[in-house]
Amino acid sequence: MAAIGEILRTMDYGPAPEANDHVRAWLDAHSAGFTHFIDGDFTAPGEAWFEVSDPAQATPLARVAQGSDADVDRAVSAARRAHPAWSALPGHARARYLYAIARHVQKHERFLAVLESVDNGKPIRESRDIDIPLVARHFTHHAGWAELIAGEFPGARSVGVCAAIIPWNFPLLMLAWKIAPALAAGNTVVLKPAEFTPLSALAFADICRQIGLPPGVVNIVCGDGSTGAALAAHPGVDKVAFTGSTEVGRAIRRATAGSGKKLSLELGGKSPFIVFDDADLDSAVEGVVDAIWFNQGEVCCAGSRLLLHEGIAERFIAKLKARMEKLRVGDPLDKSTDIGAIVAPVQLTRIRELVEQGRREGGIVWCPAAPLPAAGWFYPPTLITGIAPASTVAEVEIFGPVAVTLTFRTPTEAVALANNTRYGLAASIWSENINLALDVAAGVKAGVVWLNATNLFDAAAGFGGFKESGFGREGGREGIAEYLTSAAHAGSPSGVATGAAPSRLSGIPAGGVAELPGDGTLPPIDRTAKLYIGGKQARPDSGYSFTVTGTSGAVLGAAPLGNRKDIRNAVEAAHKAANWSAASGHNRAQVLYYIAENLAARSAELTERLRAAGGAADAAAHEVHRAIERTFRYAAWADKFDGRIHSTKSRHVTLALREPWGVMGIVCPDEAPLLAFVSLVMPALAMGNRVIAVPSQAMPFAATDLYQIFDTSDVPGGAINIVTGERDALGLVLAEHDDIAALWYHGGAIGPIEAASAGNLKATWAVCPGDADWYADAPGTDAAHLERATQIKNVWIPYGA
Ligand code: NAI
Ligand code: MG
Repeated sequence: MAAIGEILRTMDYGPAPEANDHVRAWLDAHSAGFTHFIDGDFTAPGEAWFEVSDPAQATPLARVAQGSDADVDRAVSAARRAHPAWSALPGHARARYLYAIARHVQKHERFLAVLESVDNGKPIRESRDIDIPLVARHFTHHAGWAELIAGEFPGARSVGVCAAIIPWNFPLLMLAWKIAPALAAGNTVVLKPAEFTPLSALAFADICRQIGLPPGVVNIVCGDGSTGAALAAHPGVDKVAFTGSTEVGRAIRRATAGSGKKLSLELGGKSPFIVFDDADLDSAVEGVVDAIWFNQGEVCCAGSRLLLHEGIAERFIAKLKARMEKLRVGDPLDKSTDIGAIVAPVQLTRIRELVEQGRREGGIVWCPAAPLPAAGWFYPPTLITGIAPASTVAEVEIFGPVAVTLTFRTPTEAVALANNTRYGLAASIWSENINLALDVAAGVKAGVVWLNATNLFDAAAGFGGFKESGFGREGGREGIAEYLTSAAHAGSPSGVATGAAPSRLSGIPAGGVAELPGDGTLPPIDRTAKLYIGGKQARPDSGYSFTVTGTSGAVLGAAPLGNRKDIRNAVEAAHKAANWSAASGHNRAQVLYYIAENLAARSAELTERLRAAGGAADAAAHEVHRAIERTFRYAAWADKFDGRIHSTKSRHVTLALREPWGVMGIVCPDEAPLLAFVSLVMPALAMGNRVIAVPSQAMPFAATDLYQIFDTSDVPGGAINIVTGERDALGLVLAEHDDIAALWYHGGAIGPIEAASAGNLKATWAVCPGDADWYADAPGTDAAHLERATQIKNVWIPYGA
């Protein structure tokens, strides 16, 4: 025992260990091994096991069953069987179950916090004060959604069986982020916890039993990546919700492509932490501690790239180092520990190797002098300075307690540096100047932005990324929508989409050269259609055209056969038209109204064109009429499809802002060539996207006839680009293009498109042919299109006292 004088001098903490006997007793009771939880019960032990360790001691904790394909199959079958009854329950009944789960989590919060810390290595202070309370919060919040969904999402229904595949950094919290909304919306779940940290999920299974959750509603299958892969690929799964590495996210995108499964991916990040010279530097230093040393830096949205205003960089780094000297690395169960253990040796090795790489690339690596605990897998808080923006450690997610610093001179440079990454999960901005902070918030490409704060989470706010950080949101209204489906929202169930190959045009020979018949049967309106790129008509790169015939077989004319190069030019033009995205909703509405007006002025001509393609005169007139009406309607929406303000933590407002994707691809179906084109392109334009559209292959003239209308309606060049040709081939080129953020693909097999889009993980959307009655105005259709034309950025702003 130290003398009082000595204690006062050092002001050191004494050991303050949290008791772990309840957890020890629970583990002892399961010394034979933990098995899967399927259909309301734990399964009989199989043959294969894996070991789970305590990272702080480097000792084994338990053995856990390794899930086989047969286990996955049993769990999916149980979830399938449970789905009809569970989804048919009144929302209020599901709410009661969710509420009971929340209460049980609270009743066992100390147990769960200790278990989480022992299994993962995270400090008890964090599991006790952050992870477990947020778990309860998610179940309570979603108990509320269970009550409200029927009224708030009319016509929506549950997706079905959801596969939840989660990582090891926030084991129980990630479980809650997926199971709570899934159950609220009426889905059943098969969850696969991470192989390093399955224990809290198994404790959660016990809670499901205790509250009497109907068997099969929640199933838990343990195992490694192979179990996860089997689950994601299982044909009985309707939706996959994944959190983890970008690499595995991409594999799951490919594995589920064309299956009709709904997919949300919450992947890695390399999030900027931007400090301006007018920031409160001491607060910002504390912010860095929370940004990168929270959970040992094993956080997908960790502020791992410190971008410092040049003038304060030196002072800031000095303050930061002084603070780092005070961080306590050690026993996760000690209440005064700031940084616990790294989850597994493989992760520790990965961190070490990346830091060595940083050193080799010229970085100056600094960490405080305090020794690390002798046993266990620990890594000190580390700062790497003096690196180039293109160095490995500035680009790669380290997923450990390591921050890198870069400097900038101007806000513009800060935004450029912030966005100089393939990720787009989160950003933290520090400035006392509200104009500057909000300006930078608008410029940063990230799904979550915190002003003068970092790592704030709440069940009411959406969380999820832009770019290669994935798509879909968890939490908030936008998160619950990921677990619902409706005719208008639906992905394409595989059977429908793959069965309905688009009618290939006889006019496109293998070589791509079409010959017009010379027999005098050419129709009177034979204009030479061109491509429309950057506001100008352009000849196709191939130099080829294809013949378009009407239903009677009569030749209607020739349309250009666009290729990869034309798409590339169109994407370039679209990127240059950034002003369209920056324009106000009001300005965009005016342009869309102008288009509608000009469509109306030329309706006779457009009708005649459609009629010549083979339709009856009144059908053609009806299609034109509908197209005009719909353009008016999306013009109306341009300044009305608002975001929301989420009610999250006190002293903050959380703005759920709808931002356009930027550059979108839209592949139109063959049918209703004018109406479908307008119904897809107008909402995308209304929300501020720049579009590359591939019109109906059967009747491209319905779109190419619109060029003059666009020219005379003040549509800025590049906002809309049209490339005619082989729909599916061009669709694949769009899917593979890295500078297209989202792709709508209608009327064909979505599988190859989804697979090809895995490269930059672009969001894809298909409405299957049977679903889309282009003439109908089903309720919710406008909103479905407008939602898919935007992504949500949640901006957390300090507000009130
Ligand atoms: P991981 O992405 O391999 O694991 C996440 C989950 O996916 C685990 O449950 C795992 O069993 C499962 N899984 C693995 N392969 C799968 C497959 N082919 N199909 C379906 N499921 C599969 O991440 P891992 O290997 O644990 O960590 C590697 C790196 O990934 C880390 O160093 C870190 O950089 C990053 N990471 C990022 C996370 C995030 O939240 N953004 C979380 C965990 C890791
Ligand atoms: Mg792995």
